[in-house]
Amino acid sequence: RLLGRARVMDTVLTGITTTGTPHIGNYVGAIRPTVLASFDTSVTSFHFLADYHSLVKSRDPGQMACSTLEIAASWLAAGLSSECIFYRQSDVPEIMELTWILTCMTAKGLMNRAHAYKGAVAENEATDKKDPDKGITMGLFCYPILMAADILMFKANKVPVGKDQIQHVEMARDIAGRFNHHYGETFVLPEAVIDENAAVLPGLDGRKMSKSYGNIIPLFAEEKVLRKLIMRIKTNSQEPGEPKDPDTSALFSIYRAFSSDEEAESIRKLYTGGIAWGEMKQMLFEYLNEHLKEPREEYNKLIAAPDYVEKVLQRGAQKAREVSHPFMAKIRAAIGLQPLG
Ligand code: TRP
Repeated sequence: RLLGRARVMDTVLTGITTTGTPHIGNYVGAIRPTVLASFDTSVTSFHFLADYHSLVKSRDPGQMACSTLEIAASWLAAGLSSECIFYRQSDVPEIMELTWILTCMTAKGLMNRAHAYKGAVAENEATDKKDPDKGITMGLFCYPILMAADILMFKANKVPVGKDQIQHVEMARDIAGRFNHHYGETFVLPEAVIDENAAVLPGLDGRKMSKSYGNIIPLFAEEKVLRKLIMRIKTNSQEPGEPKDPDTSALFSIYRAFSSDEEAESIRKLYTGGIAWGEMKQMLFEYLNEHLKEPREEYNKLIAAPDYVEKVLQRGAQKAREVSHPFMAKIRAAIGLQPLG
């Protein structure tokens, strides 16, 4: 609401780690809402591929390149607005420069409290009492500082994240406050935005769809694979003709995440009318396939045209650097790195 007052435009920033293939759970929970939000012209939005973050987990150069292409193509195929600034983290060297400066402003004690690091230490303590830091790199330890640089560089005030990332955004806020206190107002203090209504999809076995459970349906699975996976979704042993409960059915939950209210109502009726599981699976397959066909084609086209995807990312990096380059000069001056004389 403007309420007669001029309001400063929000700057929204989201980071996407370049690991794994997105599944339909990621799509309805994160990709679709972000793509929709990317058309909001009342905010400035930045979306980037956090490839330096994925270096913490992945040391396979081939996989690194391949994941970057897949994730970039997924977001473009899902319809990300060309108005938002879409870039690859590693194409913006100022982020790394800022990371070191922030590292020098960050208390080690703050990083000791990071969930991911603490979790890794706890696991080591449980299995190998000799070395609590076994296998833990400085990359994992300093991960929240790199994330702070991502956010602070673009003066993002709203950072939509999953619950597991709230602590990182709060750390970015702490680090920004410390810098501002010491060197003068420089950074905007960011805030995590949680979408409480984001849909959570069940996977093939009925548990939450998650790569770690091995129960996913890849977003751009080929038609045949999509059909095969849907046929594998767990149901109960009710016979055709028996009335069934849509609210405990994974098939219905998945359908519902894509359908309108009216469509969902008519499916509810089929459940009460005793539709056979096999028939419902076939319907779900046809319905999902109809929704995903076009973006899947687009995705396949993009995967076959990496040079085009590269061009899009370079254009994004150029726009991002129009912000980061001059801001970095200010930051350097603030800390006393400036030309002599
Ligand atoms: N750490 C985030 C994740 O694992 C990804 C990320 C990196 C990010 N940098 C960011 C998210 C900056 C928001 C803002 O999901």
